[in-house]
Amino acid sequence: MTLFETLRMPVLAERMSRVKESPSSRVADRVRAFQAAGREVLPLTIGEPDFDTPDHVKDAAIAAIRAGETKYTSANGTPALRKAIISRLRRKTGQSYGAEEMCLGGGAKQLIFLAFVATLDEGDEVIVPAPYWVSYPDMVTVNGGRPVIVGTTAAEGYKLTPGRLREAITDRTKWVVLNTPNNPTGAVYGEEELRGLADVLRAHPHVSVLCDEIYDEINFGARPVPSAVTVAPDLRERVFLVNGVSKAYAMTGWRIGYGAGAASLCGAIGTLQSQSSSCPSSVSQAAAVAALDGGREFIDRTVRIYTERRDLLVAGLGEIDGLRPTVPQGGFYVWTDASALMGAVTPSGVTLASDAELAEHFLETSGVVVITGDSYGFPGHFRASFALSSDTIREAVAGLAHSVSLLRR
Ligand SMILES: Cc1ncc(COP(=O)(O)O)c(C=O)c1O
Repeated sequence: MTLFETLRMPVLAERMSRVKESPSSRVADRVRAFQAAGREVLPLTIGEPDFDTPDHVKDAAIAAIRAGETKYTSANGTPALRKAIISRLRRKTGQSYGAEEMCLGGGAKQLIFLAFVATLDEGDEVIVPAPYWVSYPDMVTVNGGRPVIVGTTAAEGYKLTPGRLREAITDRTKWVVLNTPNNPTGAVYGEEELRGLADVLRAHPHVSVLCDEIYDEINFGARPVPSAVTVAPDLRERVFLVNGVSKAYAMTGWRIGYGAGAASLCGAIGTLQSQSSSCPSSVSQAAAVAALDGGREFIDRTVRIYTERRDLLVAGLGEIDGLRPTVPQGGFYVWTDASALMGAVTPSGVTLASDAELAEHFLETSGVVVITGDSYGFPGHFRASFALSSDTIREAVAGLAHSVSLLRR
């Protein structure tokens, strides 16, 4: 690179040193490199439904295009979408949200990011229970906040307890992030557990809760999944609910998410939205209306299929000596304790000492790709997706069994 070219390059802001590439993208690069070398891989890394978007949703999008619904909309969406979201929120939480208490984003991910942009001042703390969705800590740090990672245990179902929450709160705490059902563990907070956390929050009025409920429709227990706002309606102003159509309706590429909470927060997010992307795609908004208003047939059918796959993967992993899978209550991932394999020796003489080495051993010996626990702030474990066909799951389980059998322990 010439000096002239260097001088023309924009100098990146200091904040860029606080954000790293998502681990899933890194794994995807590794998989592509493997495939380019002609090797077959079995990616258990998939973070999106393998189903196609339902036809009635696609039809609604096509009709919107034909009807000329291809212009900017208000930052918080078309009246039809706002109505559909408000009815969905009412069905789920029993709460009536006004249009000014909701906001729209290009996916739930963007809304979480914007919520932190809107609220975090330098040094503000955000409590993030681990294992956590990979993006939360980076979203906090890039916006000047400090993620306070609070460990959970298998015995506690990988859920934040009132005691641990109380201990983690300081004068600088702005948010606690609750993700239910959880990615990566599949944990779902029950009503009693949410009540316990709400009791702690009542004593700390400066703390708000960001409830990421993006997997709430993919759940294997009682429905709907309990929400913080349902068990503690008095805290409604301090609960920011985040959801979207990506996972429930197999619409990850359409990029529609929504949030509900205090009017001041939703208004601030709307302002940020209007100054950054103006609004999410008008065509995707029409599709989201069809999804949210379109009945439960798709969700019921896919949850039945996910249930079979979950059982297949959990049973298969459970039979491999050294792996301890957790039965997920929601989402489409199986969180597996692989700590018993640490210290084992691979055929090439590597003594497994890190998650990266374990993942590399799986990849090299059976082509199976998993996302390891360190990405979720919880080493010694891995996440395996079951958003895959049953045949692929069977093949991957056989592959993992083979890889583990090669280890000297
Ligand atoms: C826990 C969690 N929250 C939010 C998202 C983002 O969802 P969206 O596609 O609506 O941005 C994901 C996607 O993987 C997720 O796992």
